[in-house]
Amino acid sequence: MYEREDVAAGYAGDRPAVHGRIIAGLGLPRVRAALDVGCGAGLSAVAIAHLADLVVCVEIEPNMLRYRLPGPRYVVGSGERLPFRDGAFGLITASGSLNYMDKGVALREARRVLAPDGVLVVCDFGTGWPDGVEPLWVEDPDPDYPMDPRELPWGASGLRLVSFVERQVRVGMSLDGYARYLRTEGGEQAEQWARETLPTVFDGSSLDVIFDTYGACALHDSQVIAC
Ligand SMILES: C[S@@+](CC[C@H](N)C(=O)[O-])C[C@H]1O[C@@H](n2cnc3c(N)ncnc32)[C@H](O)[C@@H]1O
Repeated sequence: MYEREDVAAGYAGDRPAVHGRIIAGLGLPRVRAALDVGCGAGLSAVAIAHLADLVVCVEIEPNMLRYRLPGPRYVVGSGERLPFRDGAFGLITASGSLNYMDKGVALREARRVLAPDGVLVVCDFGTGWPDGVEPLWVEDPDPDYPMDPRELPWGASGLRLVSFVERQVRVGMSLDGYARYLRTEGGEQAEQWARETLPTVFDGSSLDVIFDTYGACALHDSQVIAC
């Protein structure tokens, strides 16, 4: 789906600012250089800009970079084969992207480019819903997507999971904003469902949309400092 122009544009302009809220809850240190793997249009990379002098990101689908957000340095490449030297980054994030990779290969590659005292963050959020509203467009565009970060092969990759934080994040959205966001999750059908079904729910106002989020922090297996 990431080769579609509307998805690229939607990832740049229509996704809610949830990443920063996840990152803020993890107590991460400031570093010289940070890497965001599978950055899409850059929303997850922009969310760590305050934590690093330089943010680099890698995205496998060139189309996603057509609407890239300003700030980070973008590289087209694969999370399973990162074009960087060993230990180059004090912070590495992967937001909703490891799901698509060979997880063992990608984690070993992240460990390789992670500084010995660096932190790797794997994070994501589920589809957000206005309080009390059930989804009626029953469509899972990618049944292979779900991933439990606690089950990842950390040890076999030379990493150690040191924290796993789950929390709900609320973001105020208008019906139009929510419908456009929902398109990035479930395509035109989802957007149409929102526009037809939710006007009475939003009633011309902004509503809190609830997102279930998680953030998992891992270190080199020889490190002892937790984030
Ligand atoms: C759900 S999107 C998340 C984008 C961004 N991290 C965000 O939070 O807005 C997943 C992204 O991972 C990218 N991706 C998938 N497989 C990848 C791989 N092997 N290497 C790098 N990026 C990949 C996709 O093209 C897509 O842009």
